[in-house]
Amino acid sequence: MQDSKIATSPGNLTQFEYLALNSPLNLSDGHARQALTPAQAGIIDELPSLWADAVKRPVEEVERSAQRAYFELLGQHSHPGADGRVLACYSSSVAMEIFARALATTTDAIGLVHPTFDNIPDILRGVGMRLVPVEEHWLHDDDLPADLLRSLGCLFVTTPNNPTGKVVSEERLRRLAEQCAEYGVVLTLDTSFRGFDTRAHYDHYAILEQSGCRWVVIEDTGKLWPTLELKIGWLASSANVGLPLAKVYSDILLGVSPLVLSMVKRFSEDAAGGGLAELHRFIATNRATLRNGLAGIPDISFPDPDSRASVERLDVGSRTGLEVWTALREHNVFALPCHQFHWARPQEGEHSLRIALSRSAEAVTKATNALRAVLG
Ligand SMILES: Cc1ncc(COP(=O)(O)O)c(C=O)c1O
Repeated sequence: MQDSKIATSPGNLTQFEYLALNSPLNLSDGHARQALTPAQAGIIDELPSLWADAVKRPVEEVERSAQRAYFELLGQHSHPGADGRVLACYSSSVAMEIFARALATTTDAIGLVHPTFDNIPDILRGVGMRLVPVEEHWLHDDDLPADLLRSLGCLFVTTPNNPTGKVVSEERLRRLAEQCAEYGVVLTLDTSFRGFDTRAHYDHYAILEQSGCRWVVIEDTGKLWPTLELKIGWLASSANVGLPLAKVYSDILLGVSPLVLSMVKRFSEDAAGGGLAELHRFIATNRATLRNGLAGIPDISFPDPDSRASVERLDVGSRTGLEVWTALREHNVFALPCHQFHWARPQEGEHSLRIALSRSAEAVTKATNALRAVLG
């Protein structure tokens, strides 16, 4: 147990996730924890030779080839890696912290999608930002109100969103970027869950560049592959972004491990050769196990029927997510109550629970059985 990291009751989602870390039935955090596929295990066996190779090659070359492999895998052909506008960080949260500190030099007002993972609002508040909730459905409907855009220095969107799995379509991204260009608002995307959903594989960078808006994108290899927290958060930005991202980056780190970059390159190549499609089938099977296993229980529903993300929300009806979370712990199963995703109005998430699907099929089956026992 990581109780020493928690003062009293969990104060944020990551503190709930700490409690689950040592359980074999940890369906709490969104990090990938399923077994390696045989092809991925082969890459891990290659680590000594990747190490030897990384030692010999210039860091910039290792970094560029990892970037190219990852961004191309996910359809992001127009990423600005060749122009040195993609910074490699230890994780997406580190990229987020760098972005937040840089943004705070120019504005204190940011519009943030609601709901979303709570470490995003927490990091933004940490640098003194005033957060304005942007309801998720606004992003998918009509133009954003002019008054809203005039009041913001930045619009922050998580796509695919965590926990809902909602993806901003190509048409909607184009309009949001055009509106941000018109009102001088920086458009920032967190695409940490992009890998799971081919609907998020259109070339976002081409659209952002065409709009002329100032933009930042945070990408993340960490949700996709079970690499024991060896991951990269990429921080990409437009040439005209006008934020001291490189300066703040240099305040925090010199660079990431070339070994991790080499590993990301090899995992990306394996994914491009069929591993990504296999992963999509794996997540879809786990999702079906959960949905089918809970079918027919009164007062239970799945609010995100179209989601392909590696997490699934469950509406637990008149119970609270916290009650169900507590009851599941009796079975040594850990999920995540959703109230804190609703960072502006936690009560809106009080009756839902998030289940992580990037786990072994066996763990998902056992957790589904425990949920049936608790909910039925
Ligand atoms: C959308 C999103 N962005 C960023 C993060 C942070 O990722 P990490 O803990 O790897 O820095 C998370 C964590 O789950 C997330 O859901």
